[in-house]
Amino acid sequence: MRKQTYVLTLFIAAFVLSIIQACKKDPETPVTPAPTEFVADNNTFKAFQNWHLHATKNGVDPAMLKTAHGGDDSTSVRKIYFPTSNVNKVNGQYPLGTIVSKLTTWSGNGGGSMITAMAKRGNNFDASGNNWEYFVLASDGSIMVDNGTVMRGANLMNGMCKGCHAAVSANDYIFTK
Ligand code: HEC
Repeated sequence: MRKQTYVLTLFIAAFVLSIIQACKKDPETPVTPAPTEFVADNNTFKAFQNWHLHATKNGVDPAMLKTAHGGDDSTSVRKIYFPTSNVNKVNGQYPLGTIVSKLTTWSGNGGGSMITAMAKRGNNFDASGNNWEYFVLASDGSIMVDNGTVMRGANLMNGMCKGCHAAVSANDYIFTK
């Protein structure tokens, strides 16, 4: 009886060991899950002026811009950049991680410039704005910090960015493409 128990124990131990060995020999192929959120950082937009220049808009745009993006200034030049020429909507939506920047310069009223950007952040970041995040960038393309406030968010500038871009919500909040 004792011997039988001993043999049985040995048998179980060998069995367990063989399973452990099998697991070691044949590790499960790691599966990288598809990202569900795109969180832009200080490097995301840095090289945007080397991206694909998608559109250039000049002068006053009273219909849509008013004071935004220097659009009330006859000297304003607004350049819209996407990383490549083939950023496209899929089923009416820009894909997760879509990024776009806009450089506005003007020489009237003493001159100036402003850089804005948008990123499709996803992950229910802001469902009411189709999950876009808005940014104001510093001249080196990093995300601007103004008086300690990082200039990013769904409701940047009290929701002004999103509020105006909602005019083209049927085009997933993008005016020019
Ligand atoms: C009053 C309306 C209005 C407001 C406010 C506004 N935008 Fe825009 N935005 C536009 C229009 C119109 C365009 C199209 C380009 C043009 O005519 O200059 C545009 C273009 C852009 C683009 C290029 C992508 C596109 O839609 O074609 C980005 C990026 C952008 N805006 C970011 C911002 C950010 C960030 C803010 C807030 C800080 C903001 N916008 C506020 C009207 C607005």
